[in-house]
Amino acid sequence: MNNIRLGVNIDHVATVRNARGENYPSPLRAALLAQKNGADSVTIHLREDRRHIRELDLKQIKSKLKIPLNLEIAATKEMLSIALRSKPKFVCIVPEKRQELTTEGGLNLKYKRAFLKKIINKLKKNKSRVSLFIEPSLKDINLSKILNADCVEIHTGRFCNLVNERKNYKKELNKIKKAAKLGNKLGLEVHAGHGLTFESAKILTKVLQIKEFNIGHFLIGESIFVGLSSAIKKFKRILKK
Ligand code: PXP
Repeated sequence: MNNIRLGVNIDHVATVRNARGENYPSPLRAALLAQKNGADSVTIHLREDRRHIRELDLKQIKSKLKIPLNLEIAATKEMLSIALRSKPKFVCIVPEKRQELTTEGGLNLKYKRAFLKKIINKLKKNKSRVSLFIEPSLKDINLSKILNADCVEIHTGRFCNLVNERKNYKKELNKIKKAAKLGNKLGLEVHAGHGLTFESAKILTKVLQIKEFNIGHFLIGESIFVGLSSAIKKFKRILKK
């Protein structure tokens, strides 16, 4: 059996909280609930514009969580110093554009290559496991090895969209398979994330080289439907009194 680790991304709990500018719902509570229910790690993305997770969330979650915290950051000096200070067990370096709704693609490893190498080495010396969020491309897998990353996280967005749209995903799946195989051969731990649903995650469990999935948007969205009935019932009980 391929026992794949699950990293639960709780960014969108913070998105809902921030929509009201208040303290509810709490990302810390979500992180602890993820831990209690078997998550292997908790992922948060501290964006440059702080649109969801904030530094206070990072501080609180880091101090209370027992399972590894996976901090996603852009390759900037500011984020590097935050990651060095907070010492999360895992760091995943992701590309970031201010205008994007979500992380739209993998890192451009040729851009700022020397800086990337420096960040990776500093984080590793600081005892964080470093992962690079990349497209399923053999070139990027080779470059990740050269850059001395511990892991690669393969961006599964395109594959997941094809699965959702009931289109032919075989070519995209093949790219992921080949990238995962090469990564594994080079000694990189291979992860996958972005856009994963029950259906797309299930298909990817067949790619035996993938050791960790990081899942956020669908999981948090699905939690609404799983939890809505009990929240409504609880209100009805309260209102009856
Ligand atoms: N992995 C990485 C590196 C991410 O940046 C994200 C969020 O974009 C995810 C996984 C989770 O993606 P999703 O929220 O679509 O499940």
